[in-house]
Amino acid sequence: PTIHVITPTYPRAVQKAELTRLTNTLLHVSNLHWIVVEDSPRRTPLVSRLLRSSMINYTHLNVETPRVHRMRREARGHRVPRGTVQRNLGLRWLRENLGSKARQQGVVYFADDDNTYSLELFEEMRSTQKVSVWPVAFVGGLRYESPKINSLGKVYGWSTVFDPHRPFAIDMAGFAINLQLILSKPQACFKLNGIKGGYQESSLLGELVTLSELEPKADNCTKVLVWHTRTERPQLVNEGKKGFTDFNVEI
Ligand code: UGA
Ligand code: MN
Repeated sequence: PTIHVITPTYPRAVQKAELTRLTNTLLHVSNLHWIVVEDSPRRTPLVSRLLRSSMINYTHLNVETPRVHRMRREARGHRVPRGTVQRNLGLRWLRENLGSKARQQGVVYFADDDNTYSLELFEEMRSTQKVSVWPVAFVGGLRYESPKINSLGKVYGWSTVFDPHRPFAIDMAGFAINLQLILSKPQACFKLNGIKGGYQESSLLGELVTLSELEPKADNCTKVLVWHTRTERPQLVNEGKKGFTDFNVEI
């Protein structure tokens, strides 16, 4: 099966560094299709060039997170959902472009541009029948969060401190979905409105599976194969107001 990796990304000082590192990882994964969705009004030259020279099989899309929506949520003190409309566009692309290819074998994975992915992870997810799950390090104030697995190898709950009663208390990096399941439930997507923090993943997964249908990977969820790393924002104070370095030089 082909792994369709959906990655939202947005312009900032470290964007090229993040995407370079992720490219270097994905180059080692066979049978992969990378759907990169820019949070911007148009596809940028930086990302276009990076993808073109990457040797990866990719699709390059863009959709800007609506500003109005963004500001309203901030004003109400809600956390702005990051990458949500971009992931939904990736899902729409799959449905519009692969929907007719009836028995196309595939798996869909949402990979943020700043996390750290082991190569083993991609081979684990390749056999996903419906939805597969595994632990993710550095989320929810823990070394790692994990699905809870019973003696029959079934998921029965979530080993998290932050709101373990969410239907699917799992980070975006902690699951993959069979392509046919995505295609057979055309209305399933991430919800933007009326979603409490941490419920984004549940809003999609709740439309696709039940808890008992989840497939634990990574040795029954005993291994960490993905890390929710976050990149420090570089302090560019010495650039000054006008900029010290040559802004024609891409970083
Ligand atoms: C956590 C989760 O791991 C994310 O999957 C989830 O989307 C996010 O919280 C959330 O719900 O807000 P976190 O590290 O805080 O992740 O978020 P980022 O890595 O900053 O953003 C997630 C993805 O969205 C990244 O690929 C990032 O490039 C992209 N993004 C972020 C945008 O496309 N636009 C933005 O304005 C910000
Ligand atoms: Mn992140």
